[in-house]
Amino acid sequence: MHPAFETDPATTAIPITFATKATWSDIGPTLPAQARQFAQANGFAAKPGECLTLPATDGAIAHVLFGLEDETAKWRDLFRPGQLPGLLPPGVYRFANTPHDARLAALAFALGSYRFGRYRKNDARNVRLVPPEDVDVAEISRMAEAAALARDLINTPANDMGPEELAAAAEQLANRHGANFACIVGDDLVRQNFPLIHAVGMASPRAPRLIDFVWGDPAHPKVTLVGKGVCFDTGGLDLKPSAGMLIMKKDMGGAANVLALASMVMDAKLKVRLRVLIPAVENAVAGNAFRPLDIFTSRKGITVEIGNTDAEGRLVLADALALADEEKPDLLIDLGTLTGAARVALGPDLPPFYTNDEALAHDVAVHAKAENDPLWRLPLWPPYDSWLDSKVANINNAPSGTFAGSITCALFLQRFVEAAKSWLHVDIYGWTPSAKPGRPEGGECQAARAIYKLLSQRYG
Ligand code: BES
Ligand code: MN
Ligand code: ZN
Repeated sequence: MHPAFETDPATTAIPITFATKATWSDIGPTLPAQARQFAQANGFAAKPGECLTLPATDGAIAHVLFGLEDETAKWRDLFRPGQLPGLLPPGVYRFANTPHDARLAALAFALGSYRFGRYRKNDARNVRLVPPEDVDVAEISRMAEAAALARDLINTPANDMGPEELAAAAEQLANRHGANFACIVGDDLVRQNFPLIHAVGMASPRAPRLIDFVWGDPAHPKVTLVGKGVCFDTGGLDLKPSAGMLIMKKDMGGAANVLALASMVMDAKLKVRLRVLIPAVENAVAGNAFRPLDIFTSRKGITVEIGNTDAEGRLVLADALALADEEKPDLLIDLGTLTGAARVALGPDLPPFYTNDEALAHDVAVHAKAENDPLWRLPLWPPYDSWLDSKVANINNAPSGTFAGSITCALFLQRFVEAAKSWLHVDIYGWTPSAKPGRPEGGECQAARAIYKLLSQRYG
């Protein structure tokens, strides 16, 4: 169980009463006179995120009031209670009444308790919650723990999270669940025909690798997850400007989220044959770096001209997707921090997803909404496919124009998927630029919870 939760029935917990501007006038009068007086004296108005602790006569905390968006508000942040761990003094709490969505509120509480503590003393306070009664604590714990894994991996700077360390994290997860782990490292990538993964990663002294683990009953439907594991993206020789390079430690966010998703799937023992593929590389600058206008023959046999070495994510994914596709999975899913264009289109909180499977698109949208893990469909727009044309090779990795950059990236990846029965691609950001309820600043778990719920509905 997640450490933010307290399930010892002997614990006395401080009640948290949720109110909105509209319900406060009804809730206020139900409080003891002294408490009501204290709230009024403090000007408590149940504004969203407003928090007031009410004292007992002995000075202890007797009660907490917390404001939520009105039922009729244009937008209700169902993670609003995720602010509580950052606002409350240490202690054990419980919900005295029901927030808008008790399950998401409890999940947000755990997600909002996260602090990245690897390099200095964790400033998280010991604020814990007795989960609401009809909430499946095991399920939300597994989600919060998976999110913490993704966040830790992303937040760890590149000096301590290179391809080798990322592989070690994947191996640890695989071993915990009895999965079969393998890894192809360095020049073996060339020998075993992963030319693009090798090309992107070869300039780094930290050898590129392809992480590959398999879990579950081989008779179950094959679900394969592929995650972009660029441990640092300098842009290669088409070097990124400093502002763009600044947060590129997060460029393994796809890999981190694939591991988070895999951890939920394996922990819940879904009835799938799971395969996880992570091309883990560092896109570095050196004399032996791959260059603009280099041409490589990919694993699939498609020749790829390098328009820009900074479009490296789609290159490493291309070889991994080609491998995944070879065993005709029932469902093939890839996640990656692939384009700045996705952020221009939809901002950091709303990753675009792509699929031609209408039923899958529907289910993704439904679960994204239900889990407050928002995703938005963009089209694999066939007329733009020709933008990938190269004059000298089968395909170019970076169209000369800048229009529809997330779509053209998705179309590039689509060239490498043929036999999979269904394919989903998500262009995630993997990062919360400034803290929001349940979403502390820094590395973020995106798309993994929504997809996990989709998988558990299909294969639970
Ligand atoms: N890792 C970046 C994408 C990225 C940039 C994600 C900023 C989040 C924030 C990716 O490797 C990249 O550099 N993409 C290029 C592609 C272009 C050269 C076609 C981009 O988006 O500019
Ligand atoms: Mn790049
Ligand atoms: Zn990148």
